[in-house]
Amino acid sequence: MPIKVIVVKDYEELSLRAARHIAKALRAKPNLVLGLATGSTPEGCYRELVRLHQEEGLDFSQVVTFNLDEYLGLPPEHEQSYHYYMRKKLFDHINIRPENTHIPDGLAEDPEAYCQEYEAMIRAAGGIDLQLLGIGRNGHIGFNEPGSPFDSRTRVVKLTETTRRDNARFFRSLEEVPIHAVTMGLATIMEAREILLLASGASKAEAVARAVKGPKTTELPASILQDHANCTFIVDEAAAEGLG
Ligand code: PGA
Repeated sequence: MPIKVIVVKDYEELSLRAARHIAKALRAKPNLVLGLATGSTPEGCYRELVRLHQEEGLDFSQVVTFNLDEYLGLPPEHEQSYHYYMRKKLFDHINIRPENTHIPDGLAEDPEAYCQEYEAMIRAAGGIDLQLLGIGRNGHIGFNEPGSPFDSRTRVVKLTETTRRDNARFFRSLEEVPIHAVTMGLATIMEAREILLLASGASKAEAVARAVKGPKTTELPASILQDHANCTFIVDEAAAEGLG
């Protein structure tokens, strides 16, 4: 199935559209299994989901979540950990049950064994209904960097220099950016029944164009989404520039 692309004017509209999409899925299935992403792109969407909960009663009490990734070595209290991000941006402000939220454990004693456990937890929850994604400038999804095999599962990965530099803005220095992370694999992501990818800004235009129209190649990990039966991109005008 070709990727469905919805082009919206700007980041604000993208955030509202994405939140509405998730809210609709949640109203249709209150015990939705939701895959979540971090980074700056979904922040506006999470803000709107919080508003929908607080002002319109959107109910997360039965929702189960699985995050895509986490830095290896960062404790959950670390301000740059994705555990911290998820609490601050979403979980602390909605009625989700903490025991229903799952984020890869950056401190797992045996990270390899832990990755298997994470896969088992997703399976035990019945699989992911709707997976939210961002996209890196280099076309990564989760921390599946260029070269990641299409059949990859949840595993420990080494971050590329591009990604570490892109994320250094959140840390005091580049040296503080972790070198490794745990990420769901591309095959794990592809098993989600529906995928919603968000991209905003000109810096994402090339990756978006190559993901949608380019050859399917592990050099542009998001291009695997061309094979997904139900994948939608919501992109703003700047990120849509390369789509022609
Ligand atoms: P960003 O990151 O939302 O901070 O641009 C997206 C990603 O790297 O997946």
